[in-house]
Amino acid sequence: MIVTPAIIKFPKIGNSSLGYISLAEKENLPFTVNRIYWTYFTPEDVERGGHSHLELEQILVAVAGSITIRTEMQNGEKHTFILDSPDKGLLIPKLCWREMKYSHNAVQMCIASIAYDESDYIRDYEAFKKLTYSAI
Ligand code: TYD
Repeated sequence: MIVTPAIIKFPKIGNSSLGYISLAEKENLPFTVNRIYWTYFTPEDVERGGHSHLELEQILVAVAGSITIRTEMQNGEKHTFILDSPDKGLLIPKLCWREMKYSHNAVQMCIASIAYDESDYIRDYEAFKKLTYSAI
């Protein structure tokens, strides 16, 4: 089964006079969470990403600011997503090429399925496109 990137809506508790809480219950997540990390202070002229992963699945959340994420699956399917609200996340499946740009105040939380492992990265776009399903 080929899974495509998709927006996940998190519950939002509260109101505008009090403020809000959003949360991710493990029962509602599409994978078992192994680690969480966050990126911030990314200059607006910097593009991050430029890789896909063999095994890693991630959910990106803009806990502050906004993030524009361009994705491409191996079959050529492309999408552009804008994360601009802390109650939304983007599920990035395995073998999904991604490129991200950030507003100056963006803080990106990444909910990840496995440990950091450089050998899980495909950082060469041509190699990503050439990788056949049968080779995976
Ligand atoms: P990378 O995953 O390429 O970040 P992004 O997709 O946001 O551009 O990681 C950037 C650099 O940080 C790269 O050299 C690998 C390193 N890194 C670690 O050392 N440990 C980690 O847990 C992560 C996620 C990245």
